[in-house]
Amino acid sequence: MACHSPTFPASQKRAFGVSRIRLAGGTPNSARRCENAISGGVVKVNKLITVLVGFFVLMTTGAALAQQAPKTPNILKGSPMGAVKFDHTSHLKVAPKCETCHHASKPEKPLKSPQEACTDCHTHPATPPVTTSVQGAFHNPTATAGLCIDCHKRENGAGKAAPTKCTECHQKANG
Ligand code: HEC
Ligand code: HEC
Ligand code: HEC
Ligand code: HEC
Repeated sequence: MACHSPTFPASQKRAFGVSRIRLAGGTPNSARRCENAISGGVVKVNKLITVLVGFFVLMTTGAALAQQAPKTPNILKGSPMGAVKFDHTSHLKVAPKCETCHHASKPEKPLKSPQEACTDCHTHPATPPVTTSVQGAFHNPTATAGLCIDCHKRENGAGKAAPTKCTECHQKANG
């Protein structure tokens, strides 16, 4: 059965884009109509490829726009005991997931970017509506527990040498 055979069901003609060919002209069952049907298909595939390529480009640019972990250490200032130097590069080996430290957006004060600086929201003293101070964001008043110290203790138990004493993190030399 030829594609332009009068017995070809209407639904299938539509599926192959044959109904469009009628508009493109040519006498019924002519070779020209078959060619049109084929080139119509090629145009459709090209369109599909264009859409797919466009989507791919969008996805890769989206990834490039996403925040990267800083390559140079972040200096967290505030404590009179001295600033704390935090290095992403050494930490991403033990904590590869950003969410380990950068918590999800909270309704009280939504994030402006996925890894916004903690100190934008956690201040000394705490700035409403946020209730957790900068110290509270990192450790308890005696620095026996908290995001950084809990992991350091655990890792030291496994033979690492991560700082747990005040002056190992807070150093005047850091600024
Ligand atoms: C072990 C904890 C930890 C992990 C894991 C971590 N970060 Fe961070 N990140 C921090 C701390 C602490 C800061 C400093 C925040 C400040 O200055 O208030 C920071 C700061 C940043 C900043 C700078 C924010 C600014 O505006 O100054 C970016 C960007 C960032 N992190 C991205 C990432 C990405 C991407 C990942 C995952 C690949 C990641 N971080 C994983 C702890 C972490
Ligand atoms: C856009 C603002 C914002 C940023 C940026 C932010 N936080 Fe928070 N954080 C909050 C809010 C809101 C809460 C909810 C409790 C409150 O009001 O303090 C919270 C709570 C916390 C708590 C208390 C435990 C909990 O989950 O309720 C810790 C610890 C904490 N944040 C640590 C951090 C650290 C570490 C960073 C940076 C890596 C950070 N936060 C970045 C707004 C923020
Ligand atoms: C998931 C575990 C983990 C978390 C969370 C973590 N650390 Fe560490 N940190 C380590 C380990 C392990 C080391 C030891 C590095 C080594 O031996 O390679 C370390 C080392 C350090 C050092 C020594 C210098 C260096 O970079 O190696 C500092 C300073 C430090 N961490 C600060 C922090 C601060 C500040 C936080 C919280 C914002 C934090 N860490 C959160 C695991 C962690
Ligand atoms: C693993 C690293 C680490 C250790 C160990 C540590 N701190 Fe901190 N501490 C931080 C970070 C990070 C901050 C947030 C940055 C800042 O405020 O300086 C902070 C904040 C503070 C603040 C709040 C400063 C302010 O601006 O309000 C005080 C006070 C403080 N620490 C005291 C201590 C004391 C006392 C000890 C020892 C008993 C200690 N810290 C041990 C990492 C550490």
